[in-house]
Amino acid sequence: MRLLVTGGAGYVGSHTVRLLAEHGHEVTVVDNLSTGHREAVGRVPLVVADLAETGLIRDLLRDRRIEAVLHFAAFKSVEESMRKPERYFRNNVCGSLSLVEAARAARVGLLVNSSTCAVYGEPARPPISESAVPEPANPYGESKLAVERMLASLDRAGHLRHVTLRYFNAAGAWPDGSLGEDWTGAQNLVPAAMRAALTGSTLRVFGADYATPDGTAVRDYVHVLDLAEAHLAALEHLARGGESCVLNVGSGRPASVRQVVLAVEAASGRGIRTEVAPRRAGDVAAIWADTSRAAAVLSWAAKRGLAEIAQSAWRWHSGHPSGFADTPGV
Ligand SMILES: NC(=O)c1ccc[n+]([C@@H]2O[C@H](COP(=O)([O-])OP(=O)(O)OC[C@H]3O[C@@H](n4cnc5c(N)ncnc54)[C@H](O)[C@@H]3O)[C@@H](O)[C@H]2O)c1
Repeated sequence: MRLLVTGGAGYVGSHTVRLLAEHGHEVTVVDNLSTGHREAVGRVPLVVADLAETGLIRDLLRDRRIEAVLHFAAFKSVEESMRKPERYFRNNVCGSLSLVEAARAARVGLLVNSSTCAVYGEPARPPISESAVPEPANPYGESKLAVERMLASLDRAGHLRHVTLRYFNAAGAWPDGSLGEDWTGAQNLVPAAMRAALTGSTLRVFGADYATPDGTAVRDYVHVLDLAEAHLAALEHLARGGESCVLNVGSGRPASVRQVVLAVEAASGRGIRTEVAPRRAGDVAAIWADTSRAAAVLSWAAKRGLAEIAQSAWRWHSGHPSGFADTPGV
């Protein structure tokens, strides 16, 4: 298919772009490079533009006769969204509105949307399924939920069919270590632990007094290549006339901060020094996914575990200690 990928120079987008191209799709990336990297896109055509440029995106969709859009472009820091909510609503909500207006004008009616488990907030009893009532605990999650609701309205109006994928914590790298997450994502646990393993710096563990088995926060880490495969399956679902839906994409397996640190130590062969810091505002204690709906609708399930996440990420970070060429080093 002829595809437009927004945010394809970013972490999850670039891995998905590579997988789509390997499967013979004709991909164009649009990205403003606010957090993305030209190098991550490889040889796929990249148009440097902002989602807010509705007319430009409409023309791009028309000129390239695009059949479907995969929408990754957004800001994603929970911590920053607590301090600068306006920035998150403008980029994530207004940017997505601009995109769907462009799609409507260009008569493109299929969209795969990146959402997040942050729409759920603090689940009473994980694993959490899509039928849980969303209660975001931060403006980032609110902004992504607003986009989900907008897409549901467009579906009801017959304007757009979509698959919204609620990712849990994306982690890991292309298996041979040739593509991965830049240090700009280093507030996330896996790259932060990688940095500690590479440089000997101390890893800060935000909260060790949660009501979890070892006191540290529990998350669901899903390999970035599993996520990319979920996008491929979502696209195929839409292309064969499948209905709009919202699906969890996670590993379905809980992992604590301490378990991730152990996996990174095993993959790197190095010890990691940790120090306990106060909990971060907006963080929840424990969340992991019930992925049975994605299995039923897309025949998709995560194939890779924490060890493969840590091994692939270590290959990428140890082979690219300065990240992409256009960013400051480790
Ligand atoms: N990484 C995760 O763990 C995770 C978890 C849940 C959901 N998500 C969602 O997945 C998507 C991709 O996340 P990521 O981790 O790859 O983030 P990322 O920051 O690496 O990638 C986002 C990309 O979008 C681009 N972008 C941002 N705003 C733009 C705009 N207005 N116009 C054009 N380009 C713009 C950035 O330059 C970047 O290349 C986001 O929508 C995010 O909310 C990510």
